[in-house]
Amino acid sequence: MKLDQTRIPLYHEHIDYVLTDPSVNFDVPGHKHGRSFPDFYKQMMSEQMLALDINSSKTMDNLSNPIGVIKEAQELAADLFQADQAYFLVNGSTSGIQNMILASCNPNDKIIMPRNMHKSAINGLVLSGALPIFIYPEIESDLGISMGMSLENVKKTIDEHQDAKAIMILNPTYYGYTSNIKEITEYAHQFGIAVLVDESHGSLFALSDKLPLSGLEVHADMVTISMHKTGGSLTQSSILFHNEGLISASRVRSVINLAQTSSASYLLMSSLDVARYQLANHPEMIDDLISLSDYVRNEVNKIEPLFCPSEELLNHDTIYDFDQAKIVIDVSNLGYTGFEVVDLLQEEYHTQLEVGETNVILAVIGLGDDLKTVEVLLSALRSFVKRYNKKRKTKYSSVNIHVPITLRTPREAFFSKAMMVTLDDAIDKIASDQIMVYPPGIPLAIPGELITKQMVEEFHFLLQMESQLIGCTMIDEIPYIRIMKEGI
Ligand SMILES: Cc1ncc(COP(=O)(O)O)c(C=O)c1O
Repeated sequence: MKLDQTRIPLYHEHIDYVLTDPSVNFDVPGHKHGRSFPDFYKQMMSEQMLALDINSSKTMDNLSNPIGVIKEAQELAADLFQADQAYFLVNGSTSGIQNMILASCNPNDKIIMPRNMHKSAINGLVLSGALPIFIYPEIESDLGISMGMSLENVKKTIDEHQDAKAIMILNPTYYGYTSNIKEITEYAHQFGIAVLVDESHGSLFALSDKLPLSGLEVHADMVTISMHKTGGSLTQSSILFHNEGLISASRVRSVINLAQTSSASYLLMSSLDVARYQLANHPEMIDDLISLSDYVRNEVNKIEPLFCPSEELLNHDTIYDFDQAKIVIDVSNLGYTGFEVVDLLQEEYHTQLEVGETNVILAVIGLGDDLKTVEVLLSALRSFVKRYNKKRKTKYSSVNIHVPITLRTPREAFFSKAMMVTLDDAIDKIASDQIMVYPPGIPLAIPGELITKQMVEEFHFLLQMESQLIGCTMIDEIPYIRIMKEGI
């Protein structure tokens, strides 16, 4: 690190500007430091916080063209995370992922990516017109969740598509598992293929040797982190990092400005500056987080018949490494699905988990947790198992990720004439929307893919499990989806 990481330039300027500047504002926002809000809102949100909701100005800089305090705050982030440039994002990693695709691919350029990408990447394909070459991740059969990509598979795909412009890597998956990012990056770079990393769930990776390798440590070209997920900033704030070489800085800047708001929130941006300061000056917080997570994992493994996988699952390839702070718990021996366990933990124990799937539930341990908070989780799990254990394997089989049949590009299918049909009538038709359970937001079908009978059965199963099936509209309690009007 070359810069003075004790500085918090954007935060300090933000506070000074609001609290000490005597100017009377005749600019937007029109609520004028919160004064137009009703009293109940002012009290609930705090008047100071409302006053801090300001727009850009000469003093406060502008995210669309940072030349002042935002620029300095971004440089400090780039310095800490060891990247050439950092760009603050106020529309989550969704915008970072789409920016990475738009910065590296023109319409009809090939991009290699795992099929278990987040919906934002699929939307990035629609926006850019890039052609996906999907790699199918390994599905861990006991846990029923998708893992990383095999190195051999990646190399074979690159060999067959040497003209690809980019490869996108999920580092880690929603459940915290990684692929061999170092070798994948080195191989892709041999062919001049840009490496884009969705590190939404790995904000801390670059800052600790005890966590999996970050895309930044292996010199990927672009990396997006959701600082708001595990890095300690406010929800919706993320950072996009760029390393010079295959993609030019000017292209990155113009792509960012394509869809970025011209009224970026200073609450979000300041929180990025403060979260960066906190991580730079208190690295022990990450060590404590890892120790706390290891403790939770060990304690969960003492609660029979729960199982919390650890190093033994690693296979040096598709499960190359894992994020200790993601507590994946196999609940299938309880006789309940993960969907049911998550709902019951919330309803009966006021314990909110990140997500549940057929066989597993996921608890995320964060920088703000301590022994007291994790004890709430552990005692809820202990009590839950005593009360609900049916002492048999859940009767549901895992939700599969199929190798879908792609008949149109995502962009072609998205922009074609579409119609709504019932789920059952959609069999053998082409999807024109994404369909997914949220969270985790991994599409089960994407625009251009053939809807099969097996898929429809799975959608019915998920609806029966009361999952939020995005892309599916209920009309008179019958599920409808959007398909291409034009047939196969
Ligand atoms: C793997 C993955 N990538 C990207 C995103 C998008 O991140 P954000 O919510 O910050 O837009 C998510 C969100 O859950 C995600 O799980």
